Amino acid sequence: MARQEFRGFGGITLRAEVSGFSDDPAVLLVHGGGQSGEAWRGVAEALVQAGRYVINLDLRGHGASDWAPDGRYDFGVFVEDLRAVLAQLAARPTIVGATIGGWIAAAAIGEQGGHLASGLVLADAPPQVDGDAAQRVSFSLQELSEQTDRRQACDPRFLAQVDLQAAAPRITAASADISLPLLFVRGAFSKLTEDDAAPAFCNRHDNVEMAEIREGGNLVAFDRTDLFNATLLEFLERRVPRFLPDYRQGSDARTLRDALGCFATGVTVVTAMGEAGEPVGLTANSFTSVSLDPPLLLVCIAKTSGSLKVIEQASHFAVNVLHIGQQPISNRFARPGDDRFAATPWQRGQFDAPLISGALANFECARHALHDGGDHIILVGQVERAKYEPRRDPLLYFKGRYRRLHFA
Ligand SMILES: Cc1cc2nc3c(=O)[nH]c(=O)nc-3n(C[C@H](O)[C@H](O)[C@H](O)COP(=O)(O)O)c2cc1C
Repeated sequence: MARQEFRGFGGITLRAEVSGFSDDPAVLLVHGGGQSGEAWRGVAEALVQAGRYVINLDLRGHGASDWAPDGRYDFGVFVEDLRAVLAQLAARPTIVGATIGGWIAAAAIGEQGGHLASGLVLADAPPQVDGDAAQRVSFSLQELSEQTDRRQACDPRFLAQVDLQAAAPRITAASADISLPLLFVRGAFSKLTEDDAAPAFCNRHDNVEMAEIREGGNLVAFDRTDLFNATLLEFLERRVPRFLPDYRQGSDARTLRDALGCFATGVTVVTAMGEAGEPVGLTANSFTSVSLDPPLLLVCIAKTSGSLKVIEQASHFAVNVLHIGQQPISNRFARPGDDRFAATPWQRGQFDAPLISGALANFECARHALHDGGDHIILVGQVERAKYEPRRDPLLYFKGRYRRLHFA
């Protein structure tokens, strides 16, 4: 078992115990209010034995995580913390949340966070929260705050502040927008939800399942861990199965292209000015920096490229790094036929090479060297001048498709 740190909302340090192999499918455990990750110990062990990688998170003000320096423990700040943690994980986990932990996860995923996880299990956290249920949970937390021995597990300011009644409409709305596989587990004797509300919700949504544990009460994951584990593992195997790595290999051109496509790049347009004053350019992602001193970069241009002749003869060329809004420019400079510059705003650079206006970055280069590179020419340029816009996002290319950066 190891400890991992995450940066939560506002830079707070959150801590998790991680166990299992990081290549296995991840499960993120989120405990309830007034608890800590310690409560999940039996669940975490069963998950690791079943081949899952477990991240057992302590919420802010709980367990090993920092207490909020500004005393903020409102529902919204927990949702932001969780989104920040999810963005820092290498793989999209299934989240298993108990009571408030489940509701925090429902809001984080339901409010346009579907890309951050693979599935959601709500233990004792009905996806439709009525005000009465929320009040009952709030009351039980207030009771907790009066038990001195429990006080050490969490910051008492959390217990005094938590207002689930106010959060109930938000949780209910977010749950209805979750399209990931979702399992709601409740104890048959749970007093958190009306008997009919949860089954009705599950029936309305194809992705939602419900499991009732006969002997369970309000804290089914912890009171009846054995039965809870069986239900959880069955759901995971069926809806979020473990995948075996499926490597393709070979020496053929297709495998080579696909393997090279695993390297994510930005997208550039390489431009130069012809002797008769005609601008030429083509889309290229084979761009890389080479040296800082002297400042060198390179780009590989196919020997079949119609632009190559002009580019290799010009004393200067430019590399224009495209931003996320410039995908049409990338398409235009990759297609034969179009008058590429007529439809593209550009201006002459200091050394005459055409600069695409509004690009994320422009590098004006003197031709430094040309090397043979099989069916490509490796064009090395010495950067004379660079310009960039720090606030724009790049256009990305990965596995043959355009992509965008993702920040949570
Ligand atoms: C994302 C992307 C990246 C590309 N990267 C390169 C590259 O690095 N080198 C190259 O020669 N062609 C590359 N191409 C293909 C050329 O842009 C394309 O063949 C273009 O039509 C060449 O124009 P030209 O023949 O007028 O020079 C790329 C195309 C796309 C869509």
